[in-house]
Amino acid sequence: MPDTPPPRTSDITMRFDGVSKQYPNGTLAVEDFDLDVRDGEFVSIVGPSGCGKSTMLKLVMGLEPMTGGTLEYTAEARTAASATGMVFQQALLLPWLNVLDNVLVPSTLEGRGNKKRDTPRARQLLALMGLSDFADKHPFELSGGMQQRVGIARALLHDPRILLMDEPFGALDAMTRDQLTMELLDIWERDRKTVLFVTHSIPEAIVLSDRVVVMTPRPGRIAAVVDVDLPRPRTLETINTPEFGEIAHHIRQVLDGTEVAA
Ligand SMILES: Nc1ncnc2c1ncn2[C@@H]1O[C@H](COP(=O)(O)OP(=O)(O)OP(=O)(O)O)[C@@H](O)[C@H]1O
Ligand SMILES: [Mg+2]
Repeated sequence: MPDTPPPRTSDITMRFDGVSKQYPNGTLAVEDFDLDVRDGEFVSIVGPSGCGKSTMLKLVMGLEPMTGGTLEYTAEARTAASATGMVFQQALLLPWLNVLDNVLVPSTLEGRGNKKRDTPRARQLLALMGLSDFADKHPFELSGGMQQRVGIARALLHDPRILLMDEPFGALDAMTRDQLTMELLDIWERDRKTVLFVTHSIPEAIVLSDRVVVMTPRPGRIAAVVDVDLPRPRTLETINTPEFGEIAHHIRQVLDGTEVAA
């Protein structure tokens, strides 16, 4: 394997150093997680159910305290107005608000003036998501895929440096899922946010990512970090290339425990 020089410290947005999480009931969810995430990098996390993937994102969001190790952000990422945006498996929209107001929830929480200030951007994001005609509709009038797009627009409202996504397409049918995956890829290629993306789908992880973190069953440790050196821009056709197949095979072997990667 060629020696890749370590990234310059200034290129690193997040540094996990021995991060562990034990819940108060004694469950050790994550153990000794070490990872440097580079600025603008797309990193996916795959692993068996219950291995601590959602827990990792909660630690980054500060929704749960870590019980071991450290997590450092670059000063720039930390001081950004709204450093992180989160997209959940279910869109978690507020049923009594229309689509536009759902996208504006983060601004509303900050105060009235901010909502007015952010409305043009919210409309812009809805246009980007192909939802301009649905701004005045309520969530129940939208398909699952459209609701998830609203959730993504909401996460992008404050232009976060870091985007955390927890199986955002998990509840969708295969075709909608492929379509949203490609849309996310487009958005990411446009302004290269740092993304941590949790998924059960190996093809989804590969087509999106620069690197795929493969975790062991609970307590989640890193079994391998797999480089995805496929050319960009990628398309759904990328999935049919032999190089793609080789990476998928490698990740499956690591997940099966038949290969412990370096
Ligand atoms: N608040 C909590 N209190 C106690 N244990 C928890 C809590 N949240 C999660 N766990 C436990 O921590 C472990 C990891 O959970 P987590 O939700 O991070 O897994 P996951 O990898 O996201 O799984 P899935 O793929 O099914 O979403 C599980 O054993 C779970 O039962
Ligand atoms: Mg989860």
